[in-house]
Amino acid sequence: MMNTVIIGAQWGDEGKGKIIDVLSRKADIIVRFQGGNNAGHTIVVNEQQFILHLVPSGILHKDKICIIGNGVVIDPQVLLEEIESLKKRGVDIDSNLKISDQAHLIFPYHKIIDRLREGKRKAHKIGTTGRGIGPCYADKVSRTGIRLIDLLDKDVFREKLASTLDEKNEIFKKIYHHRGFSFKQIYDEYSGYAGKIKRYAFDCAQFLSEAVKGGKRVLFEGAQGTSLDVDFGTYPYVTSSNATAGGACIGTGVSPVDIHKVVGVAKAYTTRVGRGPFPTQFSSNLLEKIRCKGREFGATTGRPRRCGWFDAVIVRRAITVNHFEELALTKLDVLDELKKLKICTAYKYRGKIYRDFPASIKVLQNCRPLYEEHPGWTGNTSQVTSFRDLPLNARRYIKRLEQLLKVKVSMISVGSQREQIIRKEISR
Ligand code: IMP
Repeated sequence: MMNTVIIGAQWGDEGKGKIIDVLSRKADIIVRFQGGNNAGHTIVVNEQQFILHLVPSGILHKDKICIIGNGVVIDPQVLLEEIESLKKRGVDIDSNLKISDQAHLIFPYHKIIDRLREGKRKAHKIGTTGRGIGPCYADKVSRTGIRLIDLLDKDVFREKLASTLDEKNEIFKKIYHHRGFSFKQIYDEYSGYAGKIKRYAFDCAQFLSEAVKGGKRVLFEGAQGTSLDVDFGTYPYVTSSNATAGGACIGTGVSPVDIHKVVGVAKAYTTRVGRGPFPTQFSSNLLEKIRCKGREFGATTGRPRRCGWFDAVIVRRAITVNHFEELALTKLDVLDELKKLKICTAYKYRGKIYRDFPASIKVLQNCRPLYEEHPGWTGNTSQVTSFRDLPLNARRYIKRLEQLLKVKVSMISVGSQREQIIRKEISR
């Protein structure tokens, strides 16, 4: 296996967890490089469901090193709960998990301001997960963030926290009429976390550089998806990190020349959780049906996801910015009962046709999607194990997507179990 990055091609929740779990078998190291516990990667092993928010999805395989890279923002309380719950279920964490000491930490004030800011936004709420992700990244870029390495040094932590709280408490009181935060409470709580997390802290960039030189195979686990990327997504309705392939370098310290391949993951339809434009969203009847069949509720917040037809415009943009060499198509079985399917090939706004993703939020919000229609296959695909055994119209649907996207589909997922995956030969 080459060093490979796995990226969501839509608005997150594409089923990356399962694809990463499958590809982890051939990897030595699996590394998360952005996002935080806004992510929820679901993996089902022998009827047992695991939802991972921070720990890389490779952790369910024995003898794989799993790394949380410097680009991830970590809520220590959530991390420690996740570690405990995995340990209780028999997963070996202590010998396999490592965390970059340069990763930034989420503090209570990040979570509170995330919610207060959302409350203040009137018409333009982003619909964040409320986990403090955006405010933590904002502090990182403002150079007022606190990293794991800072937490591990009592004096540095004391000084940084005190100066941060001086400023934050004024903002909380004056702008948000919030009582602010006690230094002692946060200092004591986080010092307790420091003692427990210390054993995992390490120099991620150095370790990965040596591992790559030594021929180890690295799998980079993206969270969220391209349309939620802070640069390339539907800004401002995005997350605060780079969920695209470039984020893998920034969020781990691995050079672009040491990454060999990028694999995209897309659902056979589209979903979106939170606010923001979604041109191909279903009308209410179909929305309920697909949401129910696809169990489309957020793995992190439980919020119902909006569902819609496959949007080739946003996936083409994902291919442009990530250069997918192949695509994994997930949840094909969710479409099994539909008599007709639609694929959006372009948008129309004020007489102009947009085949490429428009940066303007006004266009995205008001455009009309242009569809082509395809007959459904109305047959159960969930037990199918080879491409040629899929119903003819399912194969035609996939082939049409390949034509429109100019990228080959190499894996098709037809259920949540590890075994429910069809490998499709792709000629290069
Ligand atoms: P934040 O990342 O919590 O700031 O939320 C910003 C936007 O990204 C909101 O619309 C969230 O619903 C969305 N989002 C964040 N993480 C995920 C994810 O893992 N899957 C899907 N949407 C997400």
